[in-house]
Amino acid sequence: MGLFSNIFGSKKKEEVLPPADYGLIKVDMHSHLIPGIDDGAQTLEESIELIKGLKELGFTTLITTPHIMSDFYRNKPETILPGLDLVREEIAKQGLGVTIHAAAEYYLDGGFEKKIKEEKLLSFGKENYLLFELSYLNRPDSMSRVIFDLISAGYKPILAHPERYPYFYDKFEVYKEIVDRGALLQLNTNSLTGYYSPGAKAIAERLIDEGLVSFIGTDTHKTGHVKALGMARQSPHLYRLIESGKLKNITLA
Ligand SMILES: [Fe+2]
Repeated sequence: MGLFSNIFGSKKKEEVLPPADYGLIKVDMHSHLIPGIDDGAQTLEESIELIKGLKELGFTTLITTPHIMSDFYRNKPETILPGLDLVREEIAKQGLGVTIHAAAEYYLDGGFEKKIKEEKLLSFGKENYLLFELSYLNRPDSMSRVIFDLISAGYKPILAHPERYPYFYDKFEVYKEIVDRGALLQLNTNSLTGYYSPGAKAIAERLIDEGLVSFIGTDTHKTGHVKALGMARQSPHLYRLIESGKLKNITLA
């Protein structure tokens, strides 16, 4: 008895809830849908296939966020905006009924710190939201300074997929510090399915439980992501998060 109650008794039974409804938040603010400029969609056909999939899930406004990095993807408005026009034309031609805007997902490196001071960054929404991501391998020393610099420059920083940085897993208090410094956290919806790793799933659920999540994002690069988003609807954590009405996605509609 002892052994089994330890194994099975310690695991909390998950509540059975209805599937989560993305139609309630309408807006996705993290994806890679501009063809051929990063590791997302490579062709216009692929972009349209992904957009159709997101529409079927209930998203009607997409703010797509190509990578901007100093080395791999040196995107700038000149590479992003013409691609956006192509995608918009095709959406209109096919009558898909989806609104698409473009911003960017900035990778925190030396080049980004320089850009904050010297350039107008690709932000979105009335709040001037600015999406940024960190290295998956090394905790950057400059994160607090970058958050401060972004706020000073008039942006509202959003940290992309905080649950995907393993070096924070045993330092959960860092997430609260980031929020206290004035940044918001954007969870990848697919983390709740275990798509990325069991660790990312556990942290994603804890971030929701502790009320630290302001946005969810699909981070769609390929059809596998759209498929996983369908499965993520079964997550009780996602259901409760969307039903709470606290997500800011809808404010971007
Ligand atoms: Fe991304």
